Amino acid sequence: MGVTKYDFKGDVAVVTGAASGIGRCVALAFADAGADVAVCDFSEKGEETAKLCAEKGVKAKFYKMDVTDNDNVIAVRDQVVKDFGKVTCLHSNAGISQTVMGPPLDAIPDDVWEKVFAVNLFGTVKVCRAFAEPMKAANFGKIVITASVAAFQQSVLMPVYNCSKIAALSFMTTLCKELGNYNINVNAINPGYVNTPIYSGGGAMLVKEKVPALQKLETSEQVVKAIASGSALHRPQTVEDMANGVLFLCSDTSKEISGVYLNIDSGAICRV
Ligand SMILES: NC(=O)c1ccc[n+]([C@@H]2O[C@H](COP(=O)([O-])OP(=O)(O)OC[C@H]3O[C@@H](n4cnc5c(N)ncnc54)[C@H](O)[C@@H]3O)[C@@H](O)[C@H]2O)c1
Repeated sequence: MGVTKYDFKGDVAVVTGAASGIGRCVALAFADAGADVAVCDFSEKGEETAKLCAEKGVKAKFYKMDVTDNDNVIAVRDQVVKDFGKVTCLHSNAGISQTVMGPPLDAIPDDVWEKVFAVNLFGTVKVCRAFAEPMKAANFGKIVITASVAAFQQSVLMPVYNCSKIAALSFMTTLCKELGNYNINVNAINPGYVNTPIYSGGGAMLVKEKVPALQKLETSEQVVKAIASGSALHRPQTVEDMANGVLFLCSDTSKEISGVYLNIDSGAICRV
């Protein structure tokens, strides 16, 4: 199943972490729906995402952006506004996982905590803060951040990542209250388990090493499938599932929804 058709003609969507995985699919979905797209990432692969978006007949441009560098984020914001004239949708999605897993807690060095928080929390703050400005001036905007179901998991494996994502959700609710005064909706998606480069680039192997039940598995796809089998629907999700959630939260269909997180996790953390 693909991405649901929405009409975003006349919109300008900014997507961070758009060089691969979920962010690339969201950028392409916005382009498919007619939005012009500012593709932001610190990886040069963002150039390819912008090219793929432009092939769909919209204006698309790659901006090299490190979300941990405030001056860089502001400079990109200014250039995007110059190039596109406005920003109507922001998907703050860039994120990283831990490069050292627990337990034990004291085996995880401070620099791992600092690096993950620099991207997943402070990067989200810097990006949302910067791109909220043109939205405030226009008295209109839609912001979606990518958090994670990990925000609700008390796992000894990934305490750093879990903490960074619950903190990002808390920031989302604060931002929702403040930006509501400017007619800006702020929400989050919580992906469950999607076999993107965050897993295939080494994350799956780090998890596998720590979980005896996973050790016979060979590929990241197998690892993600095994982890996701514990969800209510017993299956992993796709990048298209995430794009559907983001476009829904940026669309007029959800105009009275603000301050919520959408778990797109096949029921992994279903609860009241
Ligand atoms: N894949 C999953 O199962 C899953 C589950 C829950 C949450 N998430 C979250 O989804 C988001 C997207 O991840 P993904 O799964 O598509 O993985 P991914 O690795 O394919 O995408 C992450 C992107 O962020 C970019 N990035 C990392 N640090 C950056 C920085 N400092 N500045 C700019 N860009 C930076 C990377 O270059 C990459 O393109 C992340 O926030 C991740 O935490 C993913």
